[in-house]
Amino acid sequence: MKKTTQLKTLIAGKRLQYICEAHNGLSAKIVEEQGFPGIWASGLAISSAFGVRDNNEASWTQVLETIEFMSDATTIPILLDGDTGYGNFNNMQRLVKKLEQRDIAGVCIEDKLFPKTNSFIDSDSQPLADIDEFCGKIKAGKDIQTDDDFCIVARIEAFIAGWGLEEALKRAEAYRRAGADAILVHSKKSHPADIEMFMREWENRHPIVIVPTKYYSTPTQRFRELNISVIIWANHMIRSCVAAMQKTVRQIYTDESLVNVEDTIVPVSELFRLQGASTLQRAEKKYLPTKGAAHRAIILAASRGIELGDMTAQIPKAMLKINNVPIITGTVNTLNKLGVKDITVVRGYAADRLKGANFVTIDNARHSQTKDLYSLYLARTCVEGEILIAYGDCMYRSHLIADVLAFEGDIKIVVDADFKGKSKSRDLVTCSRPYTNDFFIHRTTLKDIFVNSIQGDAHGEWTGLIAANSKGTKCIKATLEDMAARDDFESLSLTDLLKELLRVVKIHVVYTKGGWLDIDNLSDFRLAGGF
Ligand code: SPV
Ligand code: MG
Repeated sequence: MKKTTQLKTLIAGKRLQYICEAHNGLSAKIVEEQGFPGIWASGLAISSAFGVRDNNEASWTQVLETIEFMSDATTIPILLDGDTGYGNFNNMQRLVKKLEQRDIAGVCIEDKLFPKTNSFIDSDSQPLADIDEFCGKIKAGKDIQTDDDFCIVARIEAFIAGWGLEEALKRAEAYRRAGADAILVHSKKSHPADIEMFMREWENRHPIVIVPTKYYSTPTQRFRELNISVIIWANHMIRSCVAAMQKTVRQIYTDESLVNVEDTIVPVSELFRLQGASTLQRAEKKYLPTKGAAHRAIILAASRGIELGDMTAQIPKAMLKINNVPIITGTVNTLNKLGVKDITVVRGYAADRLKGANFVTIDNARHSQTKDLYSLYLARTCVEGEILIAYGDCMYRSHLIADVLAFEGDIKIVVDADFKGKSKSRDLVTCSRPYTNDFFIHRTTLKDIFVNSIQGDAHGEWTGLIAANSKGTKCIKATLEDMAARDDFESLSLTDLLKELLRVVKIHVVYTKGGWLDIDNLSDFRLAGGF
């Protein structure tokens, strides 16, 4: 049901209804969660929350902005305490227009003069508006509203300003005739005498709203007997949070510690719940490119890179700096950028020199007698869920990794079709189809992988990248465990793993043309910007 219709029904219904004050999105949400059918956007509470007086010190657009947050946070109707309408009939019209645009269900205006003073402040300056002028304001509001159910409540301040029953009744009747949907009769007495008197004479002509802040001890049953339509609990959210904040701040200040308050306040998770954090998390899964987030990466970086001579005398190849950044750091940064945060690096040669942020390490102490499959085996507890395996001494452009993560398939590898003419190519492969520009549409699978073969037969060079979904990872893990039982296990490489996998599963090929570099010798290193 529209918020306006909800409010209209609530005001016009036979049963006594209650609406509760709120002053921002959070308190509005709390009021709704409690089960109240409507919210009073109190001028006193909103101005208090701003830290200003209830004398129209907050501009009407500042109030509007606040109630927009309240309206967005809730599904129940909001009745705005619109003070005097922030000006004359013209300002009232603009107000109603803006309120309708923000899905505010109604506005209450009081028959005082702008800038108004809160009704409970003892002051001689509570001058009342001219009746005809105020009726014009009501009419102007009713005329401009586009939704028939938008409510205008006219508030009578006659009792507040020291006038008697007669003035109150005269005004109530005039405002009813001017088109107000309900009349709010306000009183600052500590007993309901004004209201009792008024209701006796009014004889249920039109719905009556009251604000029993001062005569709070009157049993609610009495208001029901008087045929009141709506009670506004007008400022109890703001007053309760002031009490709670003062207590908490005093405790923290005195203790110079948080220990004594932690259990008396809500956990931050409660704030997240009220903010609807989980809805955003679900949306993030749907809309953000989080392909990498689910993946864990294993980077094999145990080798020294003997071919690079003195340069790797003290450090492993993965720590060589290209453009001032160690190769391993570049790879980890690329993975992080793609959302891959769970990264394990298997170290070996000069293990204690392989350092960096955002990864954990596993050491292959037998790196000089073993090959990369052994390193992977050491990291087998990480071979779970969705994984990416990469070499620590290779540099990869992020699109290569992004593509292989996004590609459908249980096990996927990246193959460089632009390999011919390179001084040397290792790990050549044959595939079900050669590279074509539309390789993403025509799925290609791996046929065979061989080391140091003649280039003529091959379709590309494997880049060292393997990605797998959980099904593929299970298969990799099982194969790895089987191979670990072989006598020659220590001499086996990832290429042997791929060969074994080929017997049992399809390995999908994601083609690339360049975009990676295997630092195998000095000229590779220079080419990459290492000097
Ligand atoms: C408010 O809540 O701001 C009101 C009601 O206008 S009262 O403070 O009782 O005047
Ligand atoms: Mg007010």
